[in-house]
Amino acid sequence: MIAVPESFVRTTVEREATEEAAAWLHELPSLVEELLSRWQCVLDGEVMHGGVGVIVPVRRAGGAGDAVLKVSFPHPGNVHEPDAFAVWGGRGAVLLYERDDERFAMLLERAGTRTLAQFGAGDEDGIATVAGLLNRRLAVPAPHGLPRLSARAEEWERGLLADAEELPHSLPRRALDAALATVRDLGAIQPETVLHGDLHARNILRADREPWLAVDPKGYAGDPAYDGGTLLKSRALSLIEADDLPKAVHRTLGIFAEAAELDRERVRRWSQFHAVEAAFHGRRHGFRVARGGRQLDGIVRFVEELAELLTE
Ligand SMILES: Nc1ncnc2c1ncn2[C@@H]1O[C@H](COP(=O)(O)OP(=O)(O)O)[C@@H](O)[C@H]1O
Ligand SMILES: [Mg+2]
Repeated sequence: MIAVPESFVRTTVEREATEEAAAWLHELPSLVEELLSRWQCVLDGEVMHGGVGVIVPVRRAGGAGDAVLKVSFPHPGNVHEPDAFAVWGGRGAVLLYERDDERFAMLLERAGTRTLAQFGAGDEDGIATVAGLLNRRLAVPAPHGLPRLSARAEEWERGLLADAEELPHSLPRRALDAALATVRDLGAIQPETVLHGDLHARNILRADREPWLAVDPKGYAGDPAYDGGTLLKSRALSLIEADDLPKAVHRTLGIFAEAAELDRERVRRWSQFHAVEAAFHGRRHGFRVARGGRQLDGIVRFVEELAELLTE
């Protein structure tokens, strides 16, 4: 039986805080056993985890090679992950070998253990280039059945208005108005392309079949420029070190947009929207790296600064 990593147990219990979550964690080792046997795999290394899933390195029977078993916490946000992998068929992302949607489980091609975040540490230009090129590769025509990002536009607009009223913040009016304008102008009608939805350097892994492969997609249909914002948001803690912050931020955006063959202005607008949303989200729920106190306050203020300098 696998041992579920202690840190995964702790974060899942803290986040979910329900009896169902405790029961799911309790059952997880036997669920993994069952899937290994059904998909004819044997354990092949230490169990890893991300925010919502355990990743079990395995070897497939009959010399079919290395793979990983991913079992995610049953959450609506994880439903379309296998659909996205299936559409890509290995283009820019790991291959999907098996799926059990009821169990939120997948057998996936195994990529390298190093992420772009580790590999590219200190090289913001390199990270933006790789993420942009990958974004381009993943932007294939979207089939029916993937959730449309445009369907979230109304909820985003309502959320922004409610947050601005309920939460303390130091965003200038024009930053808030710009985010609302983005939702209205770019949110409601979007291209019919597949996008990752959570493209950042920890979800991009070093590999052999292609130099970099994406994991952990949300699998939306919509504007690929949206993921310029997920990338930029995830670089905030590195960009904070820059001597000239506006220059560093615009440079990262420009490099990403060029590599992704996207309109830079569209990438800037989505990034501005993400920054405003992230500032509110941080105030309400905290961040993974800081749940409260002065540290959280400092990060939220920095994200607000990002939002402001992305406003034109
Ligand atoms: N196919 C894979 N091959 C190798 N390592 C992987 C693979 N998928 C995930 N991992 C490792 O597990 C970590 C978490 O995986 P991820 O799918 O991002 O989980 P989560 O949804 O919990 O964030 C990744 O950052 C990576 O280190
Ligand atoms: Mg992840």
